[in-house]
Amino acid sequence: MTGKTLIAPSVLSSDFSRLGDEVEAIVEAGADWIHLDVMDGHFVPNITFGAPVIKAIRNRTKAYFDCHLMIAPVDPYLAAFADAGCDGITVHAEAGPHLDRSLQTIRNLGKKAGVSLNPGTPESVIEYVLDRLDLVLLMTVNPGFGGQAFIPAVVEKVKRVKALIGDRPIDIEIDGGVSPETAPLVTAAGANVLVAGAAVFKGGTVDAYRSNIAAIRTAADKAAL
Ligand code: DX5
Ligand code: ZN
Repeated sequence: MTGKTLIAPSVLSSDFSRLGDEVEAIVEAGADWIHLDVMDGHFVPNITFGAPVIKAIRNRTKAYFDCHLMIAPVDPYLAAFADAGCDGITVHAEAGPHLDRSLQTIRNLGKKAGVSLNPGTPESVIEYVLDRLDLVLLMTVNPGFGGQAFIPAVVEKVKRVKALIGDRPIDIEIDGGVSPETAPLVTAAGANVLVAGAAVFKGGTVDAYRSNIAAIRTAADKAAL
């Protein structure tokens, strides 16, 4: 299967003073999804933005809004992110004791449900919620900041998750340190959605974004299963 990798630029590395324009620019540059990193300064050691900011940029594009919630507790806020216009909502397995309930809530809100695992979290936590999942997001850095180095040990976990998923229509998304150099390692292991922040936004112009996205896509698709 080639030509199938979805590229999801993370706006975490964009110019926040021009967030709406940056979203339009990455879509024009070939982004498939828009990755939205929500951080609370509690579950992760950084604070970014919440549902009102997402709602404010929703009218800038029809592209899929892929919302990555790094917040705890998460359940009280799921409806707000759905209302803001997120298409997919991903929660961390480590963020609360009621993963099954969170995933049910997301689907009941009519959104795609995802679970994210930190690098140190074993894949076995998804075993009993597979039927509630549309996406598994594997962190290849410790969440909280853009521009960190890819953790190669997670590649083995990608293979294990791929095997657990079997024939189910569940996306495997990779987040952290993705570049043209690291992308092939994870697509060869079974990943089909790649988040990239620093590697997409370097250069600061639409033309730079276009060539950055193309470089990741080409490298990823060449190695894809
Ligand atoms: C980290 C975020 C990532 C981050 C990726 O907590 O979840 O989405 O923005 O950034 P890069 O691609 O720069 O590692
Ligand atoms: Zn993310």
